[in-house]
Amino acid sequence: MAAAPIFQLSRAVPIPLYSLHCEDIDIQHRRIGQLLQDVADRIQEGMGAEVVGKTFIRVVEYMRVHFGDEEQFMEAWRYPAPLLREHALEHARMMERLEKLHAGIGTANPPTRTELVEPIVAWLEFHRASDDKPYMEYCRAAWRADAV
Ligand SMILES: [Fe+2]
Repeated sequence: MAAAPIFQLSRAVPIPLYSLHCEDIDIQHRRIGQLLQDVADRIQEGMGAEVVGKTFIRVVEYMRVHFGDEEQFMEAWRYPAPLLREHALEHARMMERLEKLHAGIGTANPPTRTELVEPIVAWLEFHRASDDKPYMEYCRAAWRADAV
């Protein structure tokens, strides 16, 4: 017989989960910013496509983990399915875009900061305000309802 899970995502333990997620998401956003800064620095230093590509793939991989964490959290809080689907679709579209950008690095001319870093920063700012904020607010309200 399988051992009972040590830690389960459920509404029975909402308070630590909610605050841990917020803390974690803040840390993840800062980490994404650092990884994008690394890419901008390598471009600024005049590094070739190989170095820029290796630095950029870390952004791609980290964003995949980050999006997965958000989606898992929304699911655990029973974020309305159509909203979750739409949000996950936005993540998937961005992953596709990131992979295309990464594939485009393997050419003779490494991309510029304007081509590679700035569109991602702009997307992240927009996404945080238009998609992440509503789910965080929804989960905060659910947490408060459970806490009383
Ligand atoms: Fe998101």
